[in-house]
Amino acid sequence: MKRRKFIQNTAAGAVGATFAMTAMACTDENKKTRKPSQDKKPMSKKMPNLPIAICTWQFTNANKTAGDALENGKPALEAAIEGVSIEEQNLKNTTVGKGGIPDRQGNVTLDACVMATNGDCGAVMAVSSTSHVAALARKVMEDTPHVILVGEGAEEFAALSGFETEDLLTEESKKAWQEWLKSPEYKPLINIENHDTIGMLTMDKKGDIAGACTSSGLSYKMKGRVGDSPIIGSGLFLDNEIGGAVATGMGEEVVKTVGSFLIVELMRNGMSPQDACEEAIKRIVNKNDTYKDFQIAYIAMNKMGETGAYCIHEGFTMMKYENKINENVFVDFYHKPS
Ligand code: GLY
Repeated sequence: MKRRKFIQNTAAGAVGATFAMTAMACTDENKKTRKPSQDKKPMSKKMPNLPIAICTWQFTNANKTAGDALENGKPALEAAIEGVSIEEQNLKNTTVGKGGIPDRQGNVTLDACVMATNGDCGAVMAVSSTSHVAALARKVMEDTPHVILVGEGAEEFAALSGFETEDLLTEESKKAWQEWLKSPEYKPLINIENHDTIGMLTMDKKGDIAGACTSSGLSYKMKGRVGDSPIIGSGLFLDNEIGGAVATGMGEEVVKTVGSFLIVELMRNGMSPQDACEEAIKRIVNKNDTYKDFQIAYIAMNKMGETGAYCIHEGFTMMKYENKINENVFVDFYHKPS
């Protein structure tokens, strides 16, 4: 049975000596660079129960896959890519990978990015030839002098790198698109089908953090539209000395506030992951009268393994793997109509 609980700070327990030394070194470094005002909120010295994986929505298998990979000693980035790849291959998921709902002209185009422990990153945008876009983003990071490849260029690079060409439009998604064409209206539904982008953060047995974010973007978007998911700082950002954050929901609004970067910087200045996610959501709703019409959610994890999440509307949940338990976690929300 899935256990549900409110998000809370959750770090405790045994830690490997290697991680303890790293974390202490990190704390000392922070002391050198922190301004006096920031010293009022010193970062906790709690230690994480390694390894940990978190992801957006109730993507149980994806998060468990990442958790198992980490338990088997795989590094954070590899585990994150293995985890999100489960949803890229899940034909029932119409918002990630193969089977994604197409744009208004019937093209399924995928966006993804990855970020490594050392701060390197890679991204691909508007790819229609392969479902393995998080792995492709990693290839861009590792095998090219660039950070982002888009469209045709990304597809040519995928073919050269040995990615098999696939047709991403399934019969089900094609039928849904043909139905939509009968009275086309662009009004993405909140929590549509109750899931969206998968964004994942992993902390491996050494305490190193990495992340991946992958999406087919908004249903019936304009051809060429790219959301937040492949944009480093918006859909995903991490700093291995501080922590990381990922986003899901209406990408346009995440991009405007560079949400994931904002959360990591707030954590750098002493906020908990929970407070940082809440602040990032408030930055959006405070400036945007139309927030009742769209959903955005953030999840975050800091170097101590503390996690947090917050969203605009009820209905978003996250997965958390820790202590060999993979659980679905309730996430509090901003809009509570009376
Ligand atoms: N968050 C996914 C997108 O807006 O494309």
